[in-house]
Amino acid sequence: MEEKKIIFSGIQPSGYFTLGNYLGAIKNWTRLQHEHNCIFCIVDMHAITVRQEPKNLRQRTYDSFVQLISCGLDPEKALLFIQSHVPAHAELAWLLNCYTYMGELNRMTQFKDKSSRHSENINAGLYTYPSLMAADILLYQTDMVPVGEDQKQHIELTRDIAIRFNNSYSPTFVVPEGYFPKAGARVMSLQEPDKKMSKSDENVNAYITLLEEPSVIMNKVKRAVTDSDNQVRYDIKNKAGISNLIDIYSSITGKSIQDVEKEFSSTGYGQFKNAVGEAVVEILSPIQKRFKELSKEKDYINQLIKEGAQKADSRSYKTLNKVMRKIGLYQVK
Ligand code: TRP
Repeated sequence: MEEKKIIFSGIQPSGYFTLGNYLGAIKNWTRLQHEHNCIFCIVDMHAITVRQEPKNLRQRTYDSFVQLISCGLDPEKALLFIQSHVPAHAELAWLLNCYTYMGELNRMTQFKDKSSRHSENINAGLYTYPSLMAADILLYQTDMVPVGEDQKQHIELTRDIAIRFNNSYSPTFVVPEGYFPKAGARVMSLQEPDKKMSKSDENVNAYITLLEEPSVIMNKVKRAVTDSDNQVRYDIKNKAGISNLIDIYSSITGKSIQDVEKEFSSTGYGQFKNAVGEAVVEILSPIQKRFKELSKEKDYINQLIKEGAQKADSRSYKTLNKVMRKIGLYQVK
């Protein structure tokens, strides 16, 4: 039998996850948890690299945890925790900062992008975001990191840091591989289908959150930007809007793109959009039901959050200690 791989991924506590987060990441995680040794982390320390309202951040972090479980992540199978609860992340991030070059951080497109969008607050945390992410991954001797294509550069940097450290001392970190799943990988904005679907979009019709009312979902899909030739055909270049809807439908139903085209070959966009909307409502409805029930079980959820932190703490300290010893930080046995 193939050996179980260690899989790590992180998600920002955006509060209400979008359909893009679900189809592109979380749904895939629920599958991986049965086959591998999975660790999923809510990265609240990454979130504060841009300004957050304290009350919102607190609530969103809690809601994010409840949503991961509502989506089917099982704390008995996967390790789920909140980044700031496990001090080794910040500690290793500092150490790795000393093995990361400014030249490397300067090249990160996410940094360039975010600093132009938040020009009033280009803080050092935003700059060293990638070394915190490297710490997240390397602490657990991760083999594989499932992420979106937009994180490719950060994974490359993580690998470079790991290799650099291993070569300077002796093998310490597993050098992780990025894993960029294709199915449902990139759900695009419903309004500007050449942009990724994002909760930070100022146009609320651009995204669907996991907790949206069925009537709102149907409406947002109905209003999704398409084109005028009324043919349900996959063509990202010329028909980005329709292609996005085909992707969503195919990812939810498991039907191939060709089969979806066939199914709707003689219907117009109206009927197709109706089917897409219904499929989204149907897949989200059990998640919403569980979320409603679980949100009220605060003691139970907090217990899960605590247990996750304890488990992550004891696993991560092994690597952190090893790193400190190799660097030459004085330790008393
Ligand atoms: N930077 C990732 C994102 O924005 C989130 C993240 C933080 C992450 N730490 C991670 C992803 C570690 C994978 C592994 O999507």
